[in-house]
Amino acid sequence: MADDLKNIPGASHEEPMGRAEFSAFTNATAEDWQKIGAANSVFAKSHVDRLITHLNLLKGDCGGFPVDRLEHSLQTATRAHRAGMDEEYVVSALLHDIGDTLGVFNHPDIAAAILRPFVSDANLWMVQNHGIFQGYYFFHHLGLDRNMRDQFQGHPYYEYTAQFCHLFDQPAFDGAYDTMPLDAFVPMMHRVLDKPKQSIYLRKATNEAAW
Ligand SMILES: [Fe+2]
Ligand SMILES: [Fe+2]
Repeated sequence: MADDLKNIPGASHEEPMGRAEFSAFTNATAEDWQKIGAANSVFAKSHVDRLITHLNLLKGDCGGFPVDRLEHSLQTATRAHRAGMDEEYVVSALLHDIGDTLGVFNHPDIAAAILRPFVSDANLWMVQNHGIFQGYYFFHHLGLDRNMRDQFQGHPYYEYTAQFCHLFDQPAFDGAYDTMPLDAFVPMMHRVLDKPKQSIYLRKATNEAAW
């Protein structure tokens, strides 16, 4: 295993049936793909662990904000949980800014891509568009249009997303708030993120993942 993969959960990548032997997909066999499927089904089990590793990358990174991005993520999820929102919503809230490290100019797209196989259309749309709705609270301080969200007036998830930002995202910068630790959300993450509901890698007959 390459040294730089050692800290990525699951990257030791057990290969229960060994490795495929093709040099290009055009000469791969079904047996090769069984080997890859077996290895990937092991790798998929540590999906949540890898998400936790990425959430922890937000620790200590304040970007000028009053609290670091991990605290903001945890606080957004804690506020949603305490308001009685369901687990899928809370996990969406927890991950909504996970893309901050990779998508500096489009971070909501990263979280949406991660959540897409696991959440409802409403939660997906909310996460994907939260950046524009959150902008209502600060774009005018930066010379941007705080009403950019108006382009979505009449959309079925407009209010849903506006409420997410108003109730949970925009107030989650309070250094004195009693925020739940990341460990408290891990069982929820497993319940929501262990099994995809939609993916191009689901077999139609059984709706089970190919790995
Ligand atoms: Fe965000
Ligand atoms: Fe946020």
